[in-house]
Amino acid sequence: MVTANDFIPAPYTHSIDQGIFQWSAPSNIALVKYWGKKENQIPANPSVSFTLNNCKTITQLAFAKKQNQDPSTFSFDLLFEGKPKEDFKPKIQKFLDRIEIYLPFLKDYHFTIDTQNTFPHSSGIASSASGMAALAVNFMSLEKLLSRNFGTEMTDEYFNKKASFLARLGSGSACRSIKGNVVVWGNHKNISGSSNLFGVEFPNKIHDNFSNYQDTILLVDKGEKQVSSTVGHDLMHGHPFAEKRFAQAHENLDSLIKIFESGNLSEFIKIVESEALTLHAMMMTSLPYFILMKPNTLEIINAIWKFRNETQIPVCFTLDAGANVHVLYPEDVKEEVLTFIKNNLVGYCQNGQYICDEIGFGATKI
Ligand code: DP6
Repeated sequence: MVTANDFIPAPYTHSIDQGIFQWSAPSNIALVKYWGKKENQIPANPSVSFTLNNCKTITQLAFAKKQNQDPSTFSFDLLFEGKPKEDFKPKIQKFLDRIEIYLPFLKDYHFTIDTQNTFPHSSGIASSASGMAALAVNFMSLEKLLSRNFGTEMTDEYFNKKASFLARLGSGSACRSIKGNVVVWGNHKNISGSSNLFGVEFPNKIHDNFSNYQDTILLVDKGEKQVSSTVGHDLMHGHPFAEKRFAQAHENLDSLIKIFESGNLSEFIKIVESEALTLHAMMMTSLPYFILMKPNTLEIINAIWKFRNETQIPVCFTLDAGANVHVLYPEDVKEEVLTFIKNNLVGYCQNGQYICDEIGFGATKI
């Protein structure tokens, strides 16, 4: 079994003074939700997600060996859309603290991290998953250069595993954004290779019904998150239903293994919608308690149920820790569902805004 110590590198074989990389990494949408964690970003239960394609973060990492700067601290500038962004820095600083033991070169360089998202910043879409994933792959590109050996290159498998491992230490769900198209994070007895330390591509068969699966994100409330995910996960400590919920996530993953193989969309819908509502039920039954759905979230859910009943089109919803609704459906009903969204759901979106996305394949070097 892989342990965290396996990601502490051997002494580097190369030295490099400066350079620049650029990567994009996508967001992802969980089908079985990660909600609750232990020390060191270890999830309380396994989760599985679709990697998205269009909602992504593009991050450029420029690095230069420190000259006369203090060798005992991290040195970095953070730019968001080309402009300095001081309020993102503490999160990055914390990330660097957590990953330093796995990337011992971090204090040797001054970094300029220049990042931008393809989705509107104030859309209420969390950028921490794509952002941390994009930064992690950039750091791995540098480590790959530093650890070149005669005739042997770092394998893609190790690169991706360690990138996911690092991303997890920045934000749990980020570890599911390195690869596509269906990613599992967290030990599950029936998913070989699954680990609490990093995300892995779902290893079993996936039915064609799920190829190019669509996710249209309805922006119901673009405001600041009412509850940060850190606070949210914490609410699962001592939560009256926690153990039952964690066990349920394992069972739901078991069901999904069969569903991915058979392509049974009505069973898929049951699991996915139940997971979304359970996530929100956990928040409603914690202390303190929160309601993160808005009236329009419920309007949309009811409209989807009505449309599905009337048409038998296999469209369903899922939710993150907020009011926005992800509408999930197979590619072959795209036209009908988009017409339904435009005619019946857009009115519930803030400023009529929504984002069309679909399953994607993970981080890409630019
Ligand atoms: C509701 O990954 O944002 O989206 O590890 O504290 O950064 P941290 O949490 P985060 O939590 C995501 C929770 C979720 C469900 C999910 O994506 O599985």
